[in-house]
Amino acid sequence: MSDTTLSLTDNRTGKSYTLPIEHGTIRAMDLRQIKVDEDDFGLMSYDPAYMNTASTKSQITFIDGGKGILRYRGYPIEQLAEKSTFLEVAYLLLFGELPDQNQLESWIQEITTHTFLHEKLKLLMQAFCHDAHPMGMFISSISALATFFPEARDVDDPEIRRKQILRVIAKVPTIAAFSYRHLRGLPYVYPDNDLSYTGNLLNMLFKMSEIKYQPNPTFERALDVLFILHADHEQNCSTSTMRAIGSSKADPYSALAGAAAALYGPLHGGANEAVLRMLNEIGSVENVPSYITRVKEGEFRLMGFGHRVYKNYDPRANIIKQTADQIFEVTGRNPLLDIALELERIALEDEYFVSRKLYPNVDFYSGIIYQAMGLPVEMYPVLFAIARAVGWLAQWQELLIDPEQRIARPRQIYLGTAMREFVSLQDR
Ligand code: CMC
Repeated sequence: MSDTTLSLTDNRTGKSYTLPIEHGTIRAMDLRQIKVDEDDFGLMSYDPAYMNTASTKSQITFIDGGKGILRYRGYPIEQLAEKSTFLEVAYLLLFGELPDQNQLESWIQEITTHTFLHEKLKLLMQAFCHDAHPMGMFISSISALATFFPEARDVDDPEIRRKQILRVIAKVPTIAAFSYRHLRGLPYVYPDNDLSYTGNLLNMLFKMSEIKYQPNPTFERALDVLFILHADHEQNCSTSTMRAIGSSKADPYSALAGAAAALYGPLHGGANEAVLRMLNEIGSVENVPSYITRVKEGEFRLMGFGHRVYKNYDPRANIIKQTADQIFEVTGRNPLLDIALELERIALEDEYFVSRKLYPNVDFYSGIIYQAMGLPVEMYPVLFAIARAVGWLAQWQELLIDPEQRIARPRQIYLGTAMREFVSLQDR
């Protein structure tokens, strides 16, 4: 019994309490019984950035940040990245098991039939300013999808949920590619359903006058690997947003637009864009030491470094480095790589970074790969969002069938004035 309970004494009252411990946690609601008197609301926990709060029980993704472990449904990320495809991983994350050959074929077929967008959505996208940031277009277009599929609001119907999951996975590359073509002032390219998921994405991004676009197999596979690595990462900022919006039973497109907005920030999925801007600003290897000094003086952060959960290394960053080497064999070496390697070398030896356990994260090298493929920095968070859409959907689905879930509604500590008497403008 002693290892499954927590004994507490409230020194305000001298009363003792025994709280159950389950899965290494106590329930915050169990604190509510701890009161100084009957009128007291009861004790709460305070955790503004969710530093130590489990918001859900989940069976999707496991991370051991201290050991640098990431597993989807129990499978190590290294094995999935080496031996599976993104759509296989999507199936795994969503349904809990790897598909067999038949299941995979029909899964791919189902997704492929939903790749096209309604022409009115294309018109909507065309109305954006010529230099609109693709992530802004992506977020808005995802949210607009809700108006094309009003039945999606019936989130408690498993068949309707499944249909929207297919639509989202199929349509996010199309929306992403249209937003890129828009930025470039190029005509939008429609999906080619003969191609693989990432082959078709490359087609929609880069096709020019050729009758049939032939994706470069190294790029195709590299994108697939990057998407596997980015597909889910348990309760991060954007996924928590997806769950928070989903908890009000909003349709999945609206929830996904909110999640994508959370991803866009430079501390989260926007970091890959910020890393490239940073490397360009540093400009050459000689400037790295002075840049590091400015980071240590607190002028700004070293983008692509640090993680809330990983305090050893980010296993995704290791795999991405290998993928980068394969890309550079095709494209030639990206000169920014030398700056990145030097930043990493110095930072990994420097007391400031070592003592704070700051290591390169998934975003440190992904932008360098995307740049080598010829994509502008604005597209990097959008590519992240294509992959993470799968994780958002898996977590959203799990939320909706979780009997314990209710609308997300945190408490606050109110520090404002308790009560004031209102005096109207005329009487003041
Ligand atoms: N550069 C310099 N110092 C840093 C950095 C950094 N990138 N990250 C954290 N620190 C310092 C921070 O100043 C603080 O120092 P001190 O204790 O002296 O005040 C200490 O390390 C702890 O930082 P924190 O802000 O409490 O850590 P956090 O867990 O709240 O933040 C983070 C995690 C990822 C937001 C942060 O490390 C960061 O801003 N990194 C740069 C942005 C980035 O690369 N984001 C991508 C994350 S991986 C992709 C994804 O989100 O999925």
